[in-house]
Amino acid sequence: MASAEIAPLLSSVQLGPLALRNRVFMSALTRNRSVPTNVPNDVNLEYYQQRAKSAGLIITEGVLITPQGSEWPHAPGLWSKEQVSAWKKITDAVHKEGSFIFAQIWHLGRVSHPDAPEQKLAGVPVYGPSAITARGGKFRFLPGHPGYVTPTAIDDPTVLLDLFEQAAVNAKEAGFDGVELHGANGYLVHQFLDSTSNLRTDSWGGSIANRAKFGLLALERLIKVFGKDRVGVKLSPGAGYNDVGMPVEETIETFGYFITEADKLGIAYFDVMRYTDMMNPTIDGKKRGVPHDTVAAYGHLTKNAKFFSNAGWSPEEAASAVKDGKVEGVFFGTLWISHPDLAKRLEHGKPLDNPIDFTTLYGKYYASEEAQKKGYVDYPEAQY
Ligand code: PHB
Repeated sequence: MASAEIAPLLSSVQLGPLALRNRVFMSALTRNRSVPTNVPNDVNLEYYQQRAKSAGLIITEGVLITPQGSEWPHAPGLWSKEQVSAWKKITDAVHKEGSFIFAQIWHLGRVSHPDAPEQKLAGVPVYGPSAITARGGKFRFLPGHPGYVTPTAIDDPTVLLDLFEQAAVNAKEAGFDGVELHGANGYLVHQFLDSTSNLRTDSWGGSIANRAKFGLLALERLIKVFGKDRVGVKLSPGAGYNDVGMPVEETIETFGYFITEADKLGIAYFDVMRYTDMMNPTIDGKKRGVPHDTVAAYGHLTKNAKFFSNAGWSPEEAASAVKDGKVEGVFFGTLWISHPDLAKRLEHGKPLDNPIDFTTLYGKYYASEEAQKKGYVDYPEAQY
């Protein structure tokens, strides 16, 4: 039996038209296992199916909206018919298990790798809002650092908005329950929002409203396809990762504006990450991120949307925040990686005792199917 302490996290919640069975959500998690190309495979299907047996809501790993804008050799995409059919198998399997799944639609902007196979296939340069190189971090499996090339400032950002809209059309065809705009972690949407990566002097840069415009218009495009109550957005005001971050007052003003305006659009939810040290690299000898309490700073701003949080929550802490009305649900990442039955374990009071193997987090470039499965679909369930 679940302890009384955990019970609030296990209560059901309505998300637009969807009745979620609990608030133990699975966060988007890069696993880099869509081999040999960017099409989801049967091992990916098994991974999502295992977790759909108990998760209230699943957000896919970041799904590339176009060959342009990649870092990962084996991140799945959503631009071809083949990808749509492959995702359909996964969404069907998730629904059979009684769960729901949103596609996290993702464009990496200036931190795309110029030599990633997908980027080469696209035949267009690495785009960003401005020609400003990102510092810090390292690409995994491909040599170089984010900001390997100075991005080409995109002339007309509506070209990129069209790609988000087309990805949503494809997501709908693939049977997803909704889409989550990846507005976090220094990727394209965040690059427009942040005044250190966006130095544009046209209507897409400068004032907070101008910097917020790209993300808000992207949300409008997704709403056009899915309806407002099937669209969410992920944000990371604590910044750092991929060389973004503004002074704290400017951060609170910028994200406060974005959340208030996105809430007016009527979207279903915000996934607002907490500040964590893990996502805050030291760049040129200084921590780049902006530590602040993102639940306290932004939670009170939503009038329509559900306010969810993410990053470093324990189930006990999450249950207590739900009970106190601070958040309406919580996304878990690493706990879902090593416990395919995470929510079921919480329901039955089972320990979360599978250690996570960080060496297998991302899979291996061109590895065998066995290597793809290791640390992915072979974490055991508890005994019931
Ligand atoms: C990562 O792969 O490390 C990664 C990807 C997307 C994120 C954050 C981290 O939002």
